Amino acid sequence: MGLDLYKLPITPFLHTAHTWSQVAAYFDAIGKWGVTLFVEIGVDKGGLAAFMWARQTFHPEFNYLGVELHTHVVDPRLNACVLYGDAFSDHIIDVVRSAVNKSSGPCLLLCDNGNKPRELATYAPIIRSGDIVAVHDYGVEIHQKDLGPVLSWEFVGYLEADLPMWKKP
Ligand SMILES: C[S@@+](CC[C@H](N)C(=O)[O-])C[C@H]1O[C@@H](n2cnc3c(N)ncnc32)[C@H](O)[C@@H]1O
Repeated sequence: MGLDLYKLPITPFLHTAHTWSQVAAYFDAIGKWGVTLFVEIGVDKGGLAAFMWARQTFHPEFNYLGVELHTHVVDPRLNACVLYGDAFSDHIIDVVRSAVNKSSGPCLLLCDNGNKPRELATYAPIIRSGDIVAVHDYGVEIHQKDLGPVLSWEFVGYLEADLPMWKKP
C-alpha cells in the first residue's frame, strides 16, 4: 500500500461529541456537494476537527476552520486550524465570513457551540448561495421553533444520522 497512515502527525482518537454515523454523514455531504470549506463552530477536544484536518492531507483544495471559545480544551496539535474567540464577536464573524467568501467551492458550516439558535441566526446570513448549514443536537439544544433562518432552504440533511442540514438558495 502506498499510504503509510502511521506517518500522519496526529493519532486517533480525540473525543468528539459526534457519532460515527454523523462523521460519515459529513464526509458524504462533503463528497456529494463538493464542499471545499468545513467550518465548525464549537470544537471542544477536536475529535471532528482531526478528521477534517486529516482530510486536507489528501485533498489540498479542502480546508477546515474551527472556532472555539476556550484555548485549553482543544488538543494543541490542532492550533493551526482553530480560531480562538467568541463566535458571536464581530472579529470572529468577520474572519469566518472572509474564509467563506474565499472558498472556491461550497462551504459546510456546522453550528455546535453553546447557543445553537443564536449561532444559526448569526451564521445563516453570512454563508453564500449553495453553501450548507448543519446543526448538531437537533431536538435537544435547538428546536423547530429556532429554524426561522433556514425554513425556506432545501433540506439536505441525514435523518438516519440525526443530522439536519440545509442548503442556502
Ligand atoms: C458541544 S461542544 C463541541 C463539540 C465538537 N463539535 C465535537 O464534535 O466534539 C461545544 C463547544 O462550543 C464552545 N463554545 C461555547 N460557546 C462558544 C462561543 N460563544 N464561541 C465559540 N465557542 C463556544 C465550548 O467551549 C465547547 O467546546
